[in-house]
This record gives sequence, C-alpha cells and structure tokens, in this order.
Amino acid sequence: WAIFAEDVDAILELKRSRNAVVLAHNYQTPEIFHGVADIVGDSLLLAREATKVDADIIVLAGVHFMAETAKLLNPEKTVLIPDLAAGCSLADSITAQDVRLMRQRYPGVPVVTYVNTSTAVKAEADICCTSGNARKVVESLGAERVIMLPDEYLAQNIAAQTDVKIIAWKGHCEVHELFTASDVRQLRENHPDVTILAHPECPPEVVAEADFSGSTAAMSDFVGQKRPPRVVLLTECSMSDNVAVLHPDVEFIRPCNLCPHMKRITLKNIRHALETGRHEVTIDPAIAVSARRAVERMLAI
Ligand code: 13P
Ligand code: SF4
Repeated sequence: WAIFAEDVDAILELKRSRNAVVLAHNYQTPEIFHGVADIVGDSLLLAREATKVDADIIVLAGVHFMAETAKLLNPEKTVLIPDLAAGCSLADSITAQDVRLMRQRYPGVPVVTYVNTSTAVKAEADICCTSGNARKVVESLGAERVIMLPDEYLAQNIAAQTDVKIIAWKGHCEVHELFTASDVRQLRENHPDVTILAHPECPPEVVAEADFSGSTAAMSDFVGQKRPPRVVLLTECSMSDNVAVLHPDVEFIRPCNLCPHMKRITLKNIRHALETGRHEVTIDPAIAVSARRAVERMLAI
C-alpha cells in the first residue's frame, strides 16, 4: 500500500479541491477500486449513478464507452477519462453504418445495442442494454424478434433464457472469448467443491457449464450472499482481487484474463487527469440526442 499512498493522498485532495468524483468499474485495480473511487460497480450502476452526481467533474476509471455514457447523461458536467486509448473490442466491432445495414436487412425489427458501443452506434439504437438488464430490455420491447448488437455470445446467452428470437452480430470481448468449456471441466476436476461464475460475454458453452452467470455486479452479489468456500470468476482478473478484499473467508481460484483497455487506467493517470483536466470527453451534438434517448430508455426500465 505504501507505494500507492502518495498518489492516493494527492487524488483525495484533488477530488476535494476540484469538486470531482471518481466512478470506477469493477475491473479497475484494487488501489483504484478501494483507494480512490467514490462509486464502484458494473456498467449499469455506473450509468445510473452518473445521473445522480452533483460534483462538477466526473473522472471515469474505466473504458471510453463508459465515459461517453456518463457524458451523455451529464452534458453540463466535465467528464474526464485518464487514457483516451482505453477502448473495448466490442465497441470496436461495429459502426453506425453496420447498424443501418442491419435495419435495412431486417425492416421493422427493433435494435438493442449493448452499452459497450460508441455513441454513434447508440444513436442508431432503439434502446441500450447492459449485461445486467439485457433480458429485461429485450422482453420490454414486446417484439417477436430483436436485433441485439454487437456481442454474439451475450446475444446467444440471452436467447437461451427468452422466447424472443434474437438476431446477433459477430462481435466478441477479447477477454471473455478466451474461456473454454474445457477450462470449466478442468477446474471442477482440480477443485471438486468449486463454484464457477461466468460473465455472459463468455461463450455459451462456458456459461452452460458454470453454476451462475451474471454481470460483474451480479457475480459480486452472488459471492456476498452465498459465501461459497471456493469460487472462480470467469472474467477480468481485478474482479476477483476486488471482491476478495470484501470476503476474506472465500478462496478465489484463478484463471482469469486481463483487459488491456481497463488496465490503461492507473493511479498516476487519474491524478494527472485531475491535475490537468485531461482528457475531456466530448460528444458530437448531432448524435447526442438519439444516443441519450437510447440510454435513458434503458434506465427507465
Ligand atoms: P458489466 O456491465 O457486467 O460490468 O460488464 C462490463 C464489461 O465490460 C464486461 O467485460
Ligand atoms: Fe471490452 Fe471485454 Fe474489456 Fe469489457 S473486458 S471493456 S467487454 S474488452
């Protein structure tokens, strides 16, 4: 902890003097998550909480689409992302033009886009969803068929839980696509009493063999409520580190995978963002209204 103390103290002071808050995703490293964040959670919680912030500045410790969502919901506030290159393989897998082509191919079919997309893609959507509310969002539309973009595995995992027919895109999360069903079987062989939790961005055969699948917040809640003696979280590595701090009685077994985009955010660049006001997130006004509508429609559910 001593190696982080100087940056943590500086950030706490900067937050006070600049009237700023740090919103951090569950995949941020423990020194950010437990050391400087004001609000931590999954993408849904971060979006919801962003609407309630009354500070002047929001520093988003997470990836770019999360900062864009916070800015969409807070057009009058300054939203900073400590590293502009903190992207997401899902957000990069689809463009607004791709969504327009899908609409032409399936006329009249509503479009749900994951929040892990650019603002331009959200602006083409009827509604957004996160891994925490995807089924609810899909079923809220009252349609027989729904286009769900861009995560193919999330779409397949939701299709397994609903009667709505889901038309998917071929985007994947570079972190979760690496887990395999044979990893799950190997884990059970090595640790017969283990409880296996998988994020719904994992391939369907992984989710099918897991004991539970849910958003990062749902996985954290599961551990808190059920207190399994041994657990594996098939997701990003910092998730286990952060949840383990809260539950020292639970043994966390790896494997896990690192998200290189999430790991771009550090105490040093959070401090730098607060000192310099960089990098400020801006949204093209031509797409802001439609994108905000899709996000707000989701939050109203
Ligand atoms: P959650 O919404 O479950 O936190 O997931 C976000 C994400 O990027 C998962 O890879
Ligand atoms: Fe994107 Fe996957 Fe990283 Fe989440 S873990 S931000 S979905 S690349």
